[in-house]
Amino acid sequence: MTGEISSVIGGKQAAGGTDYDSINPSRVDEVVARVRLADAETFSSACRTAAAAQREWARVPAPVRGRVIASIGRLVEANAESLARLVTREIGKPYAEALGEVREIVDTCDFFLGEGRRLYGQTVPSEMPDKNLFTFRVPVGVAAVITAGNFPVAVPSWYLVPALLAGNAVVWKPAEYAAASAEALYRLFAASGLPEGVLNLVFADGAATFEGLEAALDEGTVHKVGFTGSTEVGRRIGELCGRHLQSPCLELGGKNPMVVAADADLDLAVEGALFSGFGTAGQRCTSLGTAIVHESVHDEFLGRLTRALAAAGIGDPAGDVLCGPLLDHRFASRYEEYLGWIQPHHKVVSGPTGRITAGNPRGDFTGEGGLYYHPVIVDGVRPGDRLFLEETFGPIIGVTSFSTLEEALELANRPGYGLSSSVYTTDPATAFRFREGIGAGMVSVNNSTSGAEAHLPFGGNGRSGNGSRQSGMWVLDQFTRWQAMNWDHSGRLQKAQMDVVEIVPDVNFRL
Ligand code: UN1
Repeated sequence: MTGEISSVIGGKQAAGGTDYDSINPSRVDEVVARVRLADAETFSSACRTAAAAQREWARVPAPVRGRVIASIGRLVEANAESLARLVTREIGKPYAEALGEVREIVDTCDFFLGEGRRLYGQTVPSEMPDKNLFTFRVPVGVAAVITAGNFPVAVPSWYLVPALLAGNAVVWKPAEYAAASAEALYRLFAASGLPEGVLNLVFADGAATFEGLEAALDEGTVHKVGFTGSTEVGRRIGELCGRHLQSPCLELGGKNPMVVAADADLDLAVEGALFSGFGTAGQRCTSLGTAIVHESVHDEFLGRLTRALAAAGIGDPAGDVLCGPLLDHRFASRYEEYLGWIQPHHKVVSGPTGRITAGNPRGDFTGEGGLYYHPVIVDGVRPGDRLFLEETFGPIIGVTSFSTLEEALELANRPGYGLSSSVYTTDPATAFRFREGIGAGMVSVNNSTSGAEAHLPFGGNGRSGNGSRQSGMWVLDQFTRWQAMNWDHSGRLQKAQMDVVEIVPDVNFRL
């Protein structure tokens, strides 16, 4: 079954555009959806529609908006299996993980449905009598949200849910290779009764999106940009927003380190490295980049990890596997480039590399028709290597060793990303010294680098982002602005800092 889908602006399907086929990466001949990609003008017209709808939406009482979020959560929960199946079919995410991803949307709705009854502001004492001070959270206006397809429904919900709850309208541009999953999520949101124009869906390629976004920023119809994707594109979006005096919410790549201390529970560390390195075929922004292992346990850790990987299931993502195919053709060819970064001084300890085919099988598995790749462990990566310094989105990890914790931290911070990190140790002092020294926004102790929960701040520093945070109450600072109000009921002009009663101390007093 192939669906035909197009952008939805103000509740209506947008006409025109060019065709793009979103395929099933485990059977590349199967088209999941034929998508009409819009042009730049369609993107900016969606922003105008959103701006017009936003004023009314912001007037809906916040507790009522919270009820809409509650309905979205219920609708997603009631459709969890079909949405997860679609995610598995369209991007090859193993079904158990896809179900977890859908759960993350429900978690986000659960967290925010009550926020409609809070959105607390403050009452603040004034320096003068008969005067009252208040703060209010005000929606920013229109949020343009541009998301990647490795988490085609959960990560978008981190933006959409709080943005809508806070009274903003949204133009959402999902990844085209995950368009069917995005459209399904859009329909679930629409079924909650959101007024037309409050949430708009635009399918477009990167160039049209950028041009349309620039036009919308010039027109003043976009007030916040949320972007999840590569560091390179994030930089361009940051520059564009900066020219318009806006600070975007950027969630970019990661080269997430895992430090395994000499006193670590090695079985636990191996389990964590296996999941965060090769689960989701290594295509999370939180996936493991480099395992930095104490020299005294390096060989033992590597041996156990290599054996665990050899025993792990790779194959049809509808089944019980650790690793399915890569997301799409584009990701597969980029991954092949990363494999080219392996150098003579590296030691590939995991066996064959490259695409799994009849001529390059993984045991009995020939990868027939899908974008399946051998998972790769590269030992002996060095701090100057591209493999050590750059994100390698896909099933490949580097391994290196250290002798002191200072050295481990130096290695962990060297690539300059700062999204997620992990340390395996049984010594609390090591855990806290690691937390203090690591530049990442997220730190796991005796847990893998991936799998953040939806109500903690999610986000990174350095090449991973501009310090903005998603999720939990922290994301509200992205989608609202503080407005300060003062109200003087004294009946006269009381001048701040000047008409203030002064209580004079006896400054020369001594005991
Ligand atoms: C991403 O890959 O963009 O922490 C987000 C995790 C997931 C989210 C990943 N909850 O791995």
